[in-house]
Amino acid sequence: MACLIIVGTQWGDEGKGKVVDLLTDRADAVVRYQGGNNAGHTVMFGNQTFILHMVPSGILRETTSILGNGVVIDLTAFVKEINELEQTGIDVEKHLRISDRAQLVMPWHKTIDRLREQQKGKSKIGTTGRGIGPAYEDKAGRAGIRVGDLLDQENFRNRLEEIVNDKNKILKQYFDADEASFSAEEIFSEYADYLKKLKPCIVDTPLLINQFVEDGKHILFEGAQGTFLDVDHGTYPFVTSSNTLSGNACVGSGIGPTRITGVLGIVKAYTTRVGSGPFPTELFDNDGKLLQSEGNEFGATTGRPRRCGWFDALLVRQAVRLNGITSLAVTKLDVLDKFDTLKIAVAYRKSNGEECENFPGSLENVSPVYHEMPGWKCSTAGIVEYDKLPSEMLAYLEKISELVAAPVSVISTGPKREETIVLNPDQFWD
Ligand code: IMP
Repeated sequence: MACLIIVGTQWGDEGKGKVVDLLTDRADAVVRYQGGNNAGHTVMFGNQTFILHMVPSGILRETTSILGNGVVIDLTAFVKEINELEQTGIDVEKHLRISDRAQLVMPWHKTIDRLREQQKGKSKIGTTGRGIGPAYEDKAGRAGIRVGDLLDQENFRNRLEEIVNDKNKILKQYFDADEASFSAEEIFSEYADYLKKLKPCIVDTPLLINQFVEDGKHILFEGAQGTFLDVDHGTYPFVTSSNTLSGNACVGSGIGPTRITGVLGIVKAYTTRVGSGPFPTELFDNDGKLLQSEGNEFGATTGRPRRCGWFDALLVRQAVRLNGITSLAVTKLDVLDKFDTLKIAVAYRKSNGEECENFPGSLENVSPVYHEMPGWKCSTAGIVEYDKLPSEMLAYLEKISELVAAPVSVISTGPKREETIVLNPDQFWD
């Protein structure tokens, strides 16, 4: 039995989808435990590219794919994603399981997300606009609707009428938004169709997942977003509204912490961020532009250009601590192929000149102190043998591993499944 959690160690977009897909070849189930369709996991194999927002990447290998109680689901987008997967021949109904306790992202959540960002103007968070924050607010405020609520149609209709009334009032009075007037009747009939499609997949997922554990199966927990978008430990308020850390894999799926056997941290060989918020190693020069173009750094969900910068060892060291990371998968190393010199932030200098080597509570007014290393200046895309990697790349990896205090177990040299070096593949499973 193994329960392996996969988490992003930076601000998301580290390449988790590819690594989850790769490790799924030996997994019996893949579980998403937080977030919603703000995530965008890109998986490439053969000559096909899949971008999954909600459905766990395990579905591509027809492995049991579970949406745990901790996720928030926009059924409109979710059913569309399922239909697209079915068109490629995947039997989604057979392999997908959805928690009856997962919360729904309702149409008003998306409207409120958008209007709130508009109101904030320059101080906006830069959300994905998918209604994630308002949906988690309603969950915590005990005003949300859960997947299981759909099963009792009469009760659902009554709750919907009550909530729609309330939300329409809020939208009119607080946001002065006339366009946003929702009809309970329309939503009810739309959701009745979704229920028809999803009903066979709705189950008690904590029971199912614990049964997998008891049967000695291998389970992968697929984190969404990244460590520094965590609502408690991230760069608040520029964060998402869920706990993205490995600890939440337990709460968001309904298993106990004693079951977890490993935590694999996914780390990009440099740093990127989408949306607003502090980013100490951000580059505004040609090096930043080169990272963006070579790394094709545009959001998988919103298409927004990602901000790019050098590797930040303080950030990833903190992620290793917060998540209890047991090893690292380093992705997108080939994006650095053209650089003469590579920089790694090893400390921050505060405005009073003091230097700190540990991640501080606030990233405002800190500037990075860099360690410089020579680049490898040759094409490494697609190399699959460790011995063929240039010595400068191995030195870069060794330095990262030493600075963040975690061993490297996976090296990714390209976007495709097969463009990967897994050191000691048996370490993840017993
Ligand atoms: P929200 O999750 O849509 O509320 O957005 C909050 C912040 O998290 C914004 O800065 C988003 O750009 C960022 N964010 C949310 N999901 C992802 C993701 O999957 N990758 C990278 N950034 C994300």
